[in-house]
Amino acid sequence: MYTFYLFSIIAYMITKKQSRVLDFVTDYKKKHKYAPSLEEIKRKFKLASVSTSHYYISKLQDAGFLNKEHNQPRAVSTVGAKQMIEIPILGAIAAGQPIEAIEISDETITIAKDEIGKQGKHYALRVQGSSMIDEGIFDGDIVVIRKQDVAENGQTVVAVIDDNEATLKKLYRENGKFRLQPANPTLFPIYRDEVEVRGVVVKIIRNLESQLDQGQSRDEKYVRKIDYSWDYRGEKTKSHTHGIHTYPAMFIPQVGRRLLETYSKEGDTICDIFCGSGSALVESRLIGRNAYGIDLNPLAIFLAKAKTTPINPQKLTKEYLALLDRVGKIKDSEIKHPDFKNIDFWFKDKVIVKLAKLKKAIREIKDESIQNFLMVAFSETVRYSSNTKTGEFKLVRVKGEKLEKHDPDVVGIFRKHAEKNIAGMTNFYKDAKKDSWTKIIYGDSSKDNGIKANSIDCIITSPPYGDSRTTVAYGQFSRLSAQWIDVFEDPNDASGVDNDLLGGRASKNLTHVLSSDYLKESLEKIAKQDEARARDVLSFNVGLNECLKQAYRILKPKKYFCLVVGNRLVKQVRIPTDFIIAELAEKIGFTCEDIIVRNIPGKRMPIKNSPTNIVGALEETMNKESIVVLRKN
Ligand SMILES: C[S@@+](CC[C@H](N)C(=O)[O-])C[C@H]1O[C@@H](n2cnc3c(N)ncnc32)[C@H](O)[C@@H]1O
Repeated sequence: MYTFYLFSIIAYMITKKQSRVLDFVTDYKKKHKYAPSLEEIKRKFKLASVSTSHYYISKLQDAGFLNKEHNQPRAVSTVGAKQMIEIPILGAIAAGQPIEAIEISDETITIAKDEIGKQGKHYALRVQGSSMIDEGIFDGDIVVIRKQDVAENGQTVVAVIDDNEATLKKLYRENGKFRLQPANPTLFPIYRDEVEVRGVVVKIIRNLESQLDQGQSRDEKYVRKIDYSWDYRGEKTKSHTHGIHTYPAMFIPQVGRRLLETYSKEGDTICDIFCGSGSALVESRLIGRNAYGIDLNPLAIFLAKAKTTPINPQKLTKEYLALLDRVGKIKDSEIKHPDFKNIDFWFKDKVIVKLAKLKKAIREIKDESIQNFLMVAFSETVRYSSNTKTGEFKLVRVKGEKLEKHDPDVVGIFRKHAEKNIAGMTNFYKDAKKDSWTKIIYGDSSKDNGIKANSIDCIITSPPYGDSRTTVAYGQFSRLSAQWIDVFEDPNDASGVDNDLLGGRASKNLTHVLSSDYLKESLEKIAKQDEARARDVLSFNVGLNECLKQAYRILKPKKYFCLVVGNRLVKQVRIPTDFIIAELAEKIGFTCEDIIVRNIPGKRMPIKNSPTNIVGALEETMNKESIVVLRKN
């Protein structure tokens, strides 16, 4: 059982070891009337250094167990005992899109009674997702809720909508409707006529246990360096052709460019082995690098090609205007109703007709590059005019009145996107280096894709997070577009993409030969709770290891391989993918030269600064990502 202490609005759990240090300090003080020195704490707990003692003391101070007023040796003092109360953790709550029901668990937490107020009944929930980050509520936090069925404007509430979907949001009443407002600028509010309030948030509790444990066991092997200069907060990310189509987990162009400029030079040939929509390839072209891109999602290939093929903007505009002229003249009888599974579930009839006319008009364009480029705007139009919720990457259908009222202006949406995209292409055409080339390969990066051994000067990439079912579903995101724009011979094949991606098929069992202690430890922790999820994680890492081997094969000796990765949480276990990659890569023949941690833009800065030399002790790693810099030996 964890010990909890609460102060201000955020509270931190303390680990068993911290609890033992606290007991030692308390007993020592009783006996000697002064606190032990850091050296004494080091000796007592056989710690590596006095800085580790200091780390424990400062954690206990942060958690409010030790007073903070002095910073002198032996000057720590304990705080008085508090009356504690046990609160049930009823399960998980989505701080993102609503989830079906709150699942039941039998866990409890113990917290100080005076911190949550004397009145009312309380329960706690584990937070999933990142829609409340601007309120300081992060993925993995526990929120304590006071039960009540009314709330004041602006309070953060547990709300149940559409019968049985629960979500954590700020509640506002406006013009006779309720607005459930995410505290994350990248997400949209939810509007409802009716909302059932199940309570308001009174406390947020942050779990540092797992990170701390990792930190203690391995602080010599790798070091994460936090470097906020990589954040590029507030900078434009949609210049040139970068903004022509949404894609999950795209590179920030600035990060791609900085890596390219640091680890390659003009005229070099680079490769992005998980190129997605091609952000690194666009940057390569702009700064004079030749580039290969590899991806296993056909829509990604289509987008990457369109983004990196320069087109004369005058010719493009002429074709676009002619297309607008043609589309209005196409009669219903001239179009073929597309045929793929569930088309009527995802699109209204009249939307299908309008989309089919638009597609016919685009297909009539003779120049293939122009046709493909305008097809990108069409693909966005497909998504925006479908019956899906556009705020997310998974396919979720809108419901009820919203669905009934859904009447998209298909040609209007297309025009908006096409015109924005033409402006982007105008800049790309002007700035792209004329003598650089881009080659895009539809293939599996864990296999040989025909790129010669020792031929690449630099690899820059960002792999997927893990299995698509629980993280980003690239295939699912791409499905409707892919079906409409014919990137598959049989459009029904589009639903199989996610299974083929890294980690798409769980390993049969947990036996493996991967040499990574970090992976082993994560798998053990996850398997204790859920063996199937551990097999998913293993499958992803087995695939990733094969990709690292292929990367080693194609890279020239002494050259760099940079991976931008997220350390995701599975069953409350933070998987240190950056360290796992470093370990696996070093076995293959790379040296890990750097691990830089950056904040993911649009997400808040960490509430507290984290120690830079304690592995795994970073807070809120899903709001951050690591740039692992490897060098081939
Ligand atoms: C994080 S995304 C890359 C996004 C990209 N950096 C961008 O800016 O658009 C990861 C990509 O890996 C691809 N992928 C997953 N497994 C793959 C595999 N085995 N081989 C090649 N690509 C794969 C996915 O289709 C996805 O496009």
